[in-house]
Amino acid sequence: MLEKSNIQRIDFAELYVKQKSISSFKPKNATDWDKKAQGLNERIKNSVYLKDFVQKVELGNAKTLLDIGCGTGDLSLALADRLEKVYCLDFSAQMLKCVRQNAKEKGFLHVQTLQKSLYDDWSNVPECDILIASRCLEVKDLKNMLEKLNSKAKKVYISYKVGGSFVDEDILNAIDKTITPKPDFIYLINILYQMNIFPKIDFIRSESSRFDVKNAEEFVEKVRWSLGDLDKKDEENLRKFYEKSYRHKKQKDYIRWAFISYDT
Ligand SMILES: C[S@@+](CC[C@H](N)C(=O)[O-])C[C@H]1O[C@@H](n2cnc3c(N)ncnc32)[C@H](O)[C@@H]1O
Repeated sequence: MLEKSNIQRIDFAELYVKQKSISSFKPKNATDWDKKAQGLNERIKNSVYLKDFVQKVELGNAKTLLDIGCGTGDLSLALADRLEKVYCLDFSAQMLKCVRQNAKEKGFLHVQTLQKSLYDDWSNVPECDILIASRCLEVKDLKNMLEKLNSKAKKVYISYKVGGSFVDEDILNAIDKTITPKPDFIYLINILYQMNIFPKIDFIRSESSRFDVKNAEEFVEKVRWSLGDLDKKDEENLRKFYEKSYRHKKQKDYIRWAFISYDT
């Protein structure tokens, strides 16, 4: 009999749930995301992220694609002319409005939006050849979600954040805040491994526009989006930090994403 190795005794699905529940990055609802739709719609079209993501998707003989947490739909729309049907699922009405507008501008009649949460019943979500889940799997229970999405496609493409924080260390230092990270991509890889799925892993980047702001007030709002409540002192320290240091930043920032694909 082969004994379990020490790594096999670790339950990565459970570790994920625990880390997620104590993370300082709190989940956002559909109304929060509605407010982000316009900005994402403007930024994503010419982004290095879209170009790299789309280039790495191998369509093969695929005819149908399901894009979950689709946002403005730009990723799947960039693949849509080679597909017969594309379904874009998101819980944000404003994101889906952008999808329909983007599809209309491209003259696509085979793109259908589905306004649903990742947590909803998916029994009427169609099964497809390919599923993409880009930058959207910030869920409470990742293994559970992976089982759900794996049941909907033959091939899956996921992008997942490298590192457990969206806020730079120097910003946290400016407000003297210690935060608890969220689980990063390595949890996902290990969960898949323990599900007997051996994915391909690559890495892509997105331009960080998170702190690409015009003034100190916008900067405070961006930090608030990530960290939630900030008190008056935090706000004041952030304004000072922005004026003294952040607004003089010349170098463009990038966020790293693991690009993960596998057959289900
Ligand atoms: C960072 S955006 C990514 C959008 C797009 N996939 C991309 O990479 O450009 C995250 C998207 O996931 C959606 N989302 C987040 N949580 C969700 C949930 N529980 N159910 C459905 N959609 C969700 C948001 O509305 C948003 O459109």
